[in-house]
Amino acid sequence: MTGGDANALGDFLPCLRRFAASNEEAPLAIAILDAHFRFVHRNRMLREMMDLYEYPADRPFLEAFSRSMPSSEISGFRTALSDASTGHSWKGEIDHWTPETLRVSTVVRALPFFAPATGGKNPVAFFLYFDDVTKQRKLDLRRILQALLKASLLKDKETGLHVERVNSYAGRMAQAIWRDARFPRVDAEFIEEIGFLASMHDVGKIGVRDDILNKEGPLIEGEWDEMRQHTINGGILLHSIYPNPMAREIALSHHERWNGKGYPYNLLDRMIPLAARIVTIADVYDALRMRRSYKPPFSHVEACASIRRESGLLFDPDLVEVFIGLEDEFERIYDTHADR
Ligand SMILES: [Fe+2]
Ligand SMILES: [Fe+2]
Repeated sequence: MTGGDANALGDFLPCLRRFAASNEEAPLAIAILDAHFRFVHRNRMLREMMDLYEYPADRPFLEAFSRSMPSSEISGFRTALSDASTGHSWKGEIDHWTPETLRVSTVVRALPFFAPATGGKNPVAFFLYFDDVTKQRKLDLRRILQALLKASLLKDKETGLHVERVNSYAGRMAQAIWRDARFPRVDAEFIEEIGFLASMHDVGKIGVRDDILNKEGPLIEGEWDEMRQHTINGGILLHSIYPNPMAREIALSHHERWNGKGYPYNLLDRMIPLAARIVTIADVYDALRMRRSYKPPFSHVEACASIRRESGLLFDPDLVEVFIGLEDEFERIYDTHADR
C-alpha cells in the first residue's frame, strides 16, 4: 500500500467505523480488512467464531485462517482482490473445525471499499462476511440419504426400526470412546455423523435382486457373490452423494472382520475404518436380537455372550470392551425401539 493509500484509509476510517458499528450485532460474521488484509474491525459474531475455532485474532486474515484455507484458495484470494476484472472481490468457502466442535461450512465473500480521495482506482479496504451454510447443506444432503434409505428398505425385509436402533447403538459407542487415547480419530463431528450414517450400512442392497434379498433358504455361491456386492454398491452410492468419507466407510466395510476373514476386501484389524468396526457390533447385536427366518430371536444375555465370544475374531477387542460397559444401554435401546 502506498503512503497515499494509507492516508486515504485514514480519511476513510471514521466512515468505515460507523459502518462497522452498525453491523456489530448482525447475525453474520463480518470483518473489515485494510489493503494488506489486516483486520480493521471484526463484529461480535466473528470475534466469537474466531475464539471458538481457535483462530489467532492478532494476525492478518490470511494468516489467521491459513489452517482452514488451502494454499490455492489463499493465492486465489490475493489475486481476486487485486484484480479489477473480478471487481476486486472474492467468493470462496471456508470450513471451520476443531476436535471439540462440529464442522461448520461458510461461504465467504470479500467486497472492496474505494475511497473517493484515491480516485476510486484501488480499494483501500475490504468488507468480508461469512455466511453459515452448514445447516441447510447438511439438511439437503441428509434428505437425499433418507430417501435412498427408504427406497432400499422398501426392497429389504429389514425394518426402519432396525436402522434407527443401529444409529442409537453406534452413536452411544462413539460417545463412550471420545477422549479415549485408543481412538484418537473420534471428535464431536464423528459422534454426530455416525449417529446418522450408521443406518446407511445396507443401503447398497438396493442393487441386489429381490429373489436373492428375500430368499428364505440359504444362498448358493453365485447368490452370495451378488449379496456381498451390497457393500461395494453402498460405498459407491454414498461416496457420490455425501462428502463425509464415513458414509462410504460404513457401507463398504461393515462386513469386514477383525481377523481379516470378512468381505469385500479381507481388511485386517485397524485397516478396517473405525466407524465400520463400531457399526459391525451395533448391527450384529441387533440382528441377533431379531427373529430371522433362519434363527429365533436371541435374548439380551445370549446376544452379549455371542459378541464377547467373537472378540478378536469378528470384532475389535477394544470395542467389545466398550460394548461390555454399555450392555445395559444396548438392551434399553432395543427394548424401547422394539419391532412389535
Ligand atoms: Fe450388510
Ligand atoms: Fe443391518
